Amino acid sequence: MKFSLPLLAAVAEAAVIGGRADIPPPGDDGRYTISSDGIKAQFIPYGASLTNLFVKDKNGDDIDVVLGYDDAAYYPVDPGHPVYNSIPGRYANRIGNGTYTLNGETIHTEQNDGNNTLHSGTNNWSYRVWEVTDLQDDAITFAILDKSNSSLGFFGDVQASVTYSVKGSKWNIKFTAESLDQDTPLLLTHHTYFNLDAFRNPDQPLIWDHKLSLPYSQRYLEADQNALPTGQILTAEPNSINDFASSPDLTLGHARDLPGFEGNCGADGACEGYNGYFLIEDAPEDAVVATLASEFSGVKAELRTDQPGIVLYSCNWMDGTADLKSTQGIEGVNEKVVRSSCVAIEAQDYPDGINHPEWERLDAQIYGPGRTYNWETSWTFSLLE
Ligand SMILES: *[C@@H]1O[C@H](CO)[C@@H](O)[C@H](O)[C@H]1NC(C)=O
Ligand SMILES: *[C@@H]1O[C@H](CO)[C@@H](O)[C@H](O)[C@H]1NC(C)=O
Ligand SMILES: *[C@@H]1O[C@H](CO)[C@@H](O)[C@H](O)[C@H]1NC(C)=O
Ligand SMILES: *[C@@H]1O[C@H](CO)[C@@H](O)[C@H](O)[C@H]1NC(C)=O
Repeated sequence: MKFSLPLLAAVAEAAVIGGRADIPPPGDDGRYTISSDGIKAQFIPYGASLTNLFVKDKNGDDIDVVLGYDDAAYYPVDPGHPVYNSIPGRYANRIGNGTYTLNGETIHTEQNDGNNTLHSGTNNWSYRVWEVTDLQDDAITFAILDKSNSSLGFFGDVQASVTYSVKGSKWNIKFTAESLDQDTPLLLTHHTYFNLDAFRNPDQPLIWDHKLSLPYSQRYLEADQNALPTGQILTAEPNSINDFASSPDLTLGHARDLPGFEGNCGADGACEGYNGYFLIEDAPEDAVVATLASEFSGVKAELRTDQPGIVLYSCNWMDGTADLKSTQGIEGVNEKVVRSSCVAIEAQDYPDGINHPEWERLDAQIYGPGRTYNWETSWTFSLLE
C-alpha cells in the first residue's frame, strides 16, 4: 500500500503525540520515560512500543539493550517494520492458511505471509497508535479499542491495555484484553528485541555469543519452511540445535557448526538459527524460565512469565539496512542492524493453537464477553558473576 505524504505526516505526528488531554505530553524526542533505580525505559504510542531500555553494564555504564530508532516519527513509516518491541495483536504470530474455525464457522483471515496470516494481517496492533491512559514516574499504560473485522476475519470489538512498570532492576509488562460482544481468538505477546551488548562489542555485532538458558523448554514445536507449526511437538536432544535446556552455559550460537543450523528456521535453508516456539513445561510458579546474558557487557536478563512458552527469533531477516540508535554501536564499526545481530524473545501461547485442538489451547486462546484475557511477563536485569 502507498501512503500519500500528508497522511504519512499525520500518522507520524499522531505517533509522536498520541496521548489523552489529561496526560502530560511526551518529551521533545516524542518519548514517554519511566524509571527506577536500575532502569530507564522509554515508549511511544505507536504500537505501544518500547524504544529504549537502559540498564547497567559491568562498567557501571547505562547501556541501551533493545533495538529501535532515534526518530520516533520513523516508526510508522519504516518499510521494514520489524515490530520493534511492540505488541502484535489481536492474534500474534501465524494462522495457518489464513483460516480458522470458531463455533463451527470457518473464517478466513488475510494471507499476508505466503498463504498464512502473520500478526493478524492489516491493521494489526503494532501498526496502530495506542492511547496513553495513565502515566506515573515508574509506570505507563496504553489502551486500544480494536473494532470488529478491522483486521479481516477477527470479529467482535476488543478493548485491550498494556501497563509497563519498572521497580529496582525489574521491568514488568502486563496486558489485559476483553472481547466486548462475541467470541474471538486472542493471543498477545511483547515482541522485544535484545542485543545485551548494545552493539558495542568491537569484535562482532552478532548475537551468537550471548548465552541462552531455557531450563523448562526441552520440547518445541516443529515448524514448516514458512515457520508455521506442523502440529508435531519434538524433544531436543542435549547439545542439538534446539537445545537450550540441558545446560545453563549454552550460547545462542552453540550449534552454529552443526548441519541444519542454516535452515533451522525454514525458508528452504535460507533462515539460519531460530524462529520457532519453545514450550515451557513444569516450571514452578514465578520461576525464571529464560536467561539471556552476555559476557561482553556482563548484563544478564531473566524472564518470568505466566505464558506456556516463548517464540525465539534470532533476527535472520535483518538485512543490514536499518540504522542503530545513537545510543548503540560504535562509529565506523557497528552502525547497522545486520543479519543475526539480535534476538527477540516473545512470551506467548502456542502459535496457531486455534488450528490445533490436539494441543488443548482453545480455552486459552478464545475469549468471549465477561472473561478477561491476562498476560504478565517481567525481565529482571543483573550482572553476571
Ligand atoms: C486455504 O484457504 C483457502 C481460502 O483462503 C481455501 O480455499 C483452501 O481450501 C485452503 N486450503 C487448505 C489446504 O486448507
Ligand atoms: C499456497 O497454496 C497453494 C495452493 O494450496 C500452493 O500451490 C502454494 O505453493 C502455496 N504457497 C506457499 C508459499 O506455500
Ligand atoms: C499491519 O498493518 C499495516 C497497516 O494496516 C499493514 O501495512 C501491514 O502490512 C500489516 N502487517 C502485517 C504483518 O500484516
Ligand atoms: C469484513 O471485512 C471485509 C473487508 O475487509 C468485508 O469484505 C467483509 O464483508 C466483512 N465481514 C463482515 C461480517 O462484516
